[in-house]
Amino acid sequence: MRVHAAAITRDELEWPTDRLPTVPSHELSGVVAETGEEVFALTPFDRDGVAADYAAVSVAVLAPKPARLTHVEAAALPMGGLSAWQGLFVHGRLQANERVLITGASGGVGHLAVQLARHAGAEVVEEGAADLLFDTVGGELPAAERVVTIAAEAPGAIFFIVEPDREQLLELARLADAGELVPAIDSTYPLERAQEAFGRVGERGKRGKVVLDVAGA
Ligand SMILES: NC(=O)c1ccc[n+]([C@@H]2O[C@H](COP(=O)([O-])OP(=O)(O)OC[C@H]3O[C@@H](n4cnc5c(N)ncnc54)[C@H](OP(=O)(O)O)[C@@H]3O)[C@@H](O)[C@H]2O)c1
Repeated sequence: MRVHAAAITRDELEWPTDRLPTVPSHELSGVVAETGEEVFALTPFDRDGVAADYAAVSVAVLAPKPARLTHVEAAALPMGGLSAWQGLFVHGRLQANERVLITGASGGVGHLAVQLARHAGAEVVEEGAADLLFDTVGGELPAAERVVTIAAEAPGAIFFIVEPDREQLLELARLADAGELVPAIDSTYPLERAQEAFGRVGERGKRGKVVLDVAGA
């Protein structure tokens, strides 16, 4: 793939890896070099990432890029969207009319989780009793009937690692094209300034995702 944009995630340089050096970023939007198809994906963590001009990506994880989104916006969707989807609906079993508390609600995962929960007919609450807590921050967790976290293992909570899933990505793309799911871009950096981008992603007060605008799209 010719990478047009590759998003990055807080703490990703700390994630365990079985090899170094390794290429970071596992969330991209770009073009299949031979065919020109515009696609986006969350790519597997056991391979090199996609912060590069070109990347080899298994066709099994690729989905057509939402036409409504730019490459930068599309790259901001897979990691946050799939983490939110799997946390809310797969592990959290969120139902319509349930109350859900989402920590880190303005972050890369959290801002999409809020939109997906509301779209599913759940009530997003900022405090008080909740049927589901979806935690993206870690630390001491508020109480809830069911607790799911992507930040760190915690007693009584389901912790999971997001998995690439083409069917779920197609659904996220459908929602994005319908204008019902809108990824937020905190900031963009050219690949040459990736170090600054990683500095930004580690800061507080972001709104949405930090994205490497690889092709200057
Ligand atoms: N297990 C998995 O599969 C998986 C998948 C994706 C991400 N993650 C992890 O989940 C976490 C969230 O990812 P993300 O992309 O949503 O990150 P993010 O964009 O940095 O968002 C984190 C949010 O948490 C808030 N926050 C509150 N207290 C914080 C603290 N002490 N330190 C940092 N942030 C704090 C921040 O808002 P304010 O600064 O405005 O308060 C921010 O909106 C990261 O640690 C990431 O590595 C795990």
